[in-house]
Amino acid sequence: MGSIAVPKSHIVCIPYPAQGHINPMLKLAKLLHFKGFYITFVNTEFNHKRLLRSRGPKALDGAERFRFDTIPDGLPPIDQDVTQSIPALCDSSTKNMEGPFRDLLNKLNDDVTSGFPPVTHILSDGVMSFTLDVAEEMNLPEVLFWTTSACGLLGYMTYRRLIERGVTPFKDEKSFGDGTLDTQVEFIPRLKNMRLRDFPSFLRTTDPNDIMLNFCTRESQRASRGSAVILNTYEELERDVLDAIRLVLPRVYTLGSLSMLCQEILGKQYLSSLQSNLWKEDPGCLDWLKNKEPNSVVYVNFGSITVMTDQQLIEFAWGLANSKKPFLWVIRPDLVNGDSAVLPEEFLSEIKERGMLASWCPQEQVLSHPSIGGFLTHSGWNSTLESICVGVPMLCWPFFAEQTTNCHYSCVEWGIGMEIDNDVKREGVEKLIRELMEGEEGNAMKDKSLEWMMKARIATKKGGSSLVNLDKLVDEVLIQKQ
Ligand code: UDX
Repeated sequence: MGSIAVPKSHIVCIPYPAQGHINPMLKLAKLLHFKGFYITFVNTEFNHKRLLRSRGPKALDGAERFRFDTIPDGLPPIDQDVTQSIPALCDSSTKNMEGPFRDLLNKLNDDVTSGFPPVTHILSDGVMSFTLDVAEEMNLPEVLFWTTSACGLLGYMTYRRLIERGVTPFKDEKSFGDGTLDTQVEFIPRLKNMRLRDFPSFLRTTDPNDIMLNFCTRESQRASRGSAVILNTYEELERDVLDAIRLVLPRVYTLGSLSMLCQEILGKQYLSSLQSNLWKEDPGCLDWLKNKEPNSVVYVNFGSITVMTDQQLIEFAWGLANSKKPFLWVIRPDLVNGDSAVLPEEFLSEIKERGMLASWCPQEQVLSHPSIGGFLTHSGWNSTLESICVGVPMLCWPFFAEQTTNCHYSCVEWGIGMEIDNDVKREGVEKLIRELMEGEEGNAMKDKSLEWMMKARIATKKGGSSLVNLDKLVDEVLIQKQ
């Protein structure tokens, strides 16, 4: 499949400044670059520095027609490799980033030395909708990329109705523990069998001024102002939900999985050249997996934002140890609340032969290793989709945001996951790991996972929905509207 000549179209791509958003945006940017577009990829100054630290000074050098630039995030500077506060970032993005973004576009347009044409399109993360105001002011078409699942996006789009119906904000915090969250929500029939607890978690508040509830309500309502919306999912996986979204947002292009599309279009080696990890990868993980039996290892990773208490960490640790299964557990340096993770000596000596601990890994390569038999995940959308694409069933322990919705769909609708109780206990973890790796339910989930994997593959091969949609996006939105 060759690239096509797109005369002088210049797309500015701007992800929300967190790992789970930068990764898919960079994949999409690489695909559009391949299609012939000029690309300016905009990170925050904070993340730019982190990428340089983790990937080395050459990581952000760019290439012909592809360059990186930065804007400040408006938060007080910190010089550490940590995940920034999500509410603080959301608040700051709406208040402080519009001005620097406008200045950046003006700077790019004034630059006559780079050989880049003036900006013709903006491709913005769906939760960076301040960019819409700048785009409209400059008369530029803007495409919004929601990096969530479709069910997650529809969950956010429902917030306004939940507020209007008086469901949220809740009257009292007691509602979070008295069974209220188990109430079935019937008025969004395309979101199947959803209880209140399965909606994106930010509705669990008693505060009408809650930053995240208001932010997600506003951002999802503004999605209709884009020329189009892109989702990293595939038609066959979320057809009903996509139908419901399209009643409100008619131009929705599903391009998932972007990883598979990249492999199909850019070749297998694209993964190792992606350079988007904010943490330094532990190089030993893939070597460690080499000598393990096929489908034998439990891979454990809670993504880039989850934080847990010391006690939760210990419960997971003993659950894993007591399951007697080999495991690879990635413990991010800032995974535990307030301090760095400390695991008991007794646990470390117990798992010496069977367990590998790392601080960050090349997840997609790890997940696709034949020795991985199951994934204990926080149900972040990237992790969920990456697991689906390699046919690996999951144990789900959602932390926040639309992870609760992804967990519900994985466990109930797609049949590829089992949920770990929020109040995690070692016995529960041990039991579910055994079921996942050797039980009947685990086997059935493995079969289902392989079915979804095949459908995902078909979607990105010739004639498949995601591959066709990429060409449509280019023809219908990115070229015509210059
Ligand atoms: C969160 C939410 O979970 C997600 O649903 C939301 O849309 C964005 O914010 P995060 O915690 O980062 O994201 O999880 P996830 O969406 O799974 O993304 C993590 C990314 O980092 C994945 O692409 C994963 O492959 C990568 N990763 C993670 C690594 O490469 N190595 C690691 O060790 C851990």
